[in-house]
Amino acid sequence: MADISTRKADHLDLAIKGDVGFLAKTTLFECVTLVHDALPELDLDAVDTSCEVLGKKLSAPILIAGMTGGTERAERINRELAAIAEARGYAFGLGSQRAILKNPAALSSYAVRDVAPTTLLLGNLGVVQAAKLPTSDVAALAAQVGADALCVHLNPAMELVQKEGDRDFRGGLDTLERLVNELPVPVVAKETGSGLSSSVAERLKLRGIRHVDVSGAGGTSWVAVEMHRADGVKRGVGETFRDWGIPTAASVALVARHGFDTVFATGGIASGLDIARAIALGATVGGIARASLQALEAGGREGALAFFDRIEAELKAAMLLVGARNLAALKKAPRVIRGELADWLAQV
Ligand SMILES: Cc1cc2nc3c(=O)[nH]c(=O)nc-3n(C[C@H](O)[C@H](O)[C@H](O)COP(=O)(O)O)c2cc1C
Repeated sequence: MADISTRKADHLDLAIKGDVGFLAKTTLFECVTLVHDALPELDLDAVDTSCEVLGKKLSAPILIAGMTGGTERAERINRELAAIAEARGYAFGLGSQRAILKNPAALSSYAVRDVAPTTLLLGNLGVVQAAKLPTSDVAALAAQVGADALCVHLNPAMELVQKEGDRDFRGGLDTLERLVNELPVPVVAKETGSGLSSSVAERLKLRGIRHVDVSGAGGTSWVAVEMHRADGVKRGVGETFRDWGIPTAASVALVARHGFDTVFATGGIASGLDIARAIALGATVGGIARASLQALEAGGREGALAFFDRIEAELKAAMLLVGARNLAALKKAPRVIRGELADWLAQV
């Protein structure tokens, strides 16, 4: 347990203050231009950002993506961010619940239902851990926190660099299929910053997975996070693979072709305009992890609320300026795709 607690503390410190972005790679949202409408015939106040996701209504297509749990500091962060999600009508993700498996007392650091009773709440567990557990134990983890759905995270790149990381990734697809068939809550197949390809999307779809979080490249690099914690050969591998992954915009567009019910677009979402671009490419919701945490750490609840005010205002501005009254219209908004993103979509 001390091991996981130390790692979680390292992760929070590095995510808040560390040099953990991608070096050269971006999300490629900058390659998407939404086409301006000079005659929108819309009242900004009537622009509707609401949507239904996994059976719950959100006021805006925003997910505060899963980050933490397992320590007292994690508990404070989870409760603050979950309360904001409740107040604003966003979705909220918990960090990996693996710590509960090692120490059942850690459950309190994931307990947010009292401050977020109606929020769309996503539990979280790694596919490698899930593979070793009977479905009833995984179901218990989701039920203990009152999760509406369970994110099963895929993170081979970071594990290869992590000092204590997993090495054997066999059976991931079988595990996901088993959980989809046997869990009482929906499963979200979630990357952690390296993105989902079209081929992975196809394999997931064939096994019955209906919800994904692409968590693409261009935001937080988990290889970079683990690189800072590693030494020797692993540090070298981290330095070389720091920019590994599929840019978020490319991943969203590639995955959207496969017709999932829900596509969370997480990974380097930096503005409401990025969320608008993601939705125009086929996403359902934009997810924000590190920037939410940084806003909370820098400015407390008020700072985080101000951050989300800006995100929502930018999303609404983008919708008005393309003449989209609601998210269904935004999905169909004309857009120009150029540069490297066009290359990705033409070649993969
Ligand atoms: C401090 C921190 C901890 C994270 N822990 C988890 C985790 O436990 N499980 C998971 O699926 N993703 C985890 N993530 C990954 C995020 O959910 C997200 O996929 C990734 O950081 C990319 O989004 P971003 O660029 O907005 O940070 C974590 C991210 C941060 C910043």
